[in-house]
Amino acid sequence: MKKYVIIGGTGFVGSNLACHFKSKGMDVIAIDNLTKAVGTQENKKRIESAGVKFAHVDIRNWHDVEYFFRNEKEIDAILHVAAQVAFKKSVENPRLDFEINALGTFNLLEALRIYHPQAVFINTSTNQVYGEQKLIPVIEYEKRFDYADLKYGLPESFPLDFLSPYGCSKGAADQYTLDYARVYNLKTVSARLGGIYGDWQYSYEDHGWVAYMTQMVASNKSFNRFGHGKQVRDVLYVSDICSAFEHIITHIENARGEAINISGGYSNTLSVLELLDILEKITGNKEKSIENPMRKADKLVAYLDIRKAKKLIDWEPLVPKEEGIERLLKWTKQYI
Ligand SMILES: NC(=O)c1ccc[n+]([C@@H]2O[C@H](COP(=O)([O-])OP(=O)(O)OC[C@H]3O[C@@H](n4cnc5c(N)ncnc54)[C@H](O)[C@@H]3O)[C@@H](O)[C@H]2O)c1
Repeated sequence: MKKYVIIGGTGFVGSNLACHFKSKGMDVIAIDNLTKAVGTQENKKRIESAGVKFAHVDIRNWHDVEYFFRNEKEIDAILHVAAQVAFKKSVENPRLDFEINALGTFNLLEALRIYHPQAVFINTSTNQVYGEQKLIPVIEYEKRFDYADLKYGLPESFPLDFLSPYGCSKGAADQYTLDYARVYNLKTVSARLGGIYGDWQYSYEDHGWVAYMTQMVASNKSFNRFGHGKQVRDVLYVSDICSAFEHIITHIENARGEAINISGGYSNTLSVLELLDILEKITGNKEKSIENPMRKADKLVAYLDIRKAKKLIDWEPLVPKEEGIERLLKWTKQYI
């Protein structure tokens, strides 16, 4: 039986990956330090009842990491989705952000190099590594902005420009991951994600905008939104990220050493206003967002070109945004 270790396995993406690979017959161990403010205990219960094993490990602590990986034999894949994920928190506490995202990933790569050099290692990076993109022309429409010329979105070859402590720590992790393939010939991959949304996402104002707004509109509550609402992102339903990780593992000889955009791509782009329209339509509730000034580092448009994923690992999203939002809403209604 293949053995997969999910780092951050009680988080949103991690718990979904854990249950997914368990249902495919893998031996799955989730590790986490259980510090996410919302949903951690619920997700821990859920993965354990699916048969996933749990180990308490703080990836900032080399002794924790070293002990776990020295004692765990014959690991086939390490899927790293633990992080400090909130942009605002990274500005307030850049040291914590660095220790979790940069040092934590480095500790895992060292454990991989020393104890499990045969294992596949997938790091989850972010579209934030492409920076502010100030020079890319955009066009304003009634309910959204869009790129003027970049029909498919930002490709992996777009120049890196780490913005904010979060961008820097995730960018460092992204580059270390790729370099460990070059220098140590390891099977490492950096998956650069856009917005991920779906069931078991306990979101909050600062992380997971699709799920957060879905929750607010479904429960008829007012909430803050930042700027005019025409900002556009691409979004990916969580089952599609599970399939992307599966494809990376099965196509590892093509994927090793590569940064690969894993996101919804152009057909799954949404502006805030468009999302609110969809939510009003399917819930029958009037949205009650309160407009605040635009956040300083907010981009008008950011979506990813996902054609490299199709070419290298034969992957593309299967769940269209409308269907994904319906599924999320169903889960959200149970949760609230
Ligand atoms: N969700 C998105 O929209 C999105 C977008 C781009 C990139 N990403 C990246 O995808 C990954 C998963 O994101 P998510 O939405 O599931 O986040 P999440 O906050 O739901 O999960 C992260 C998990 O990491 C754990 N963790 C934090 N610090 C830890 C530490 N020191 N040791 C061990 N565990 C620790 C938390 O307890 C939590 O369970 C992250 O790397 C994130 O940066 C997510």
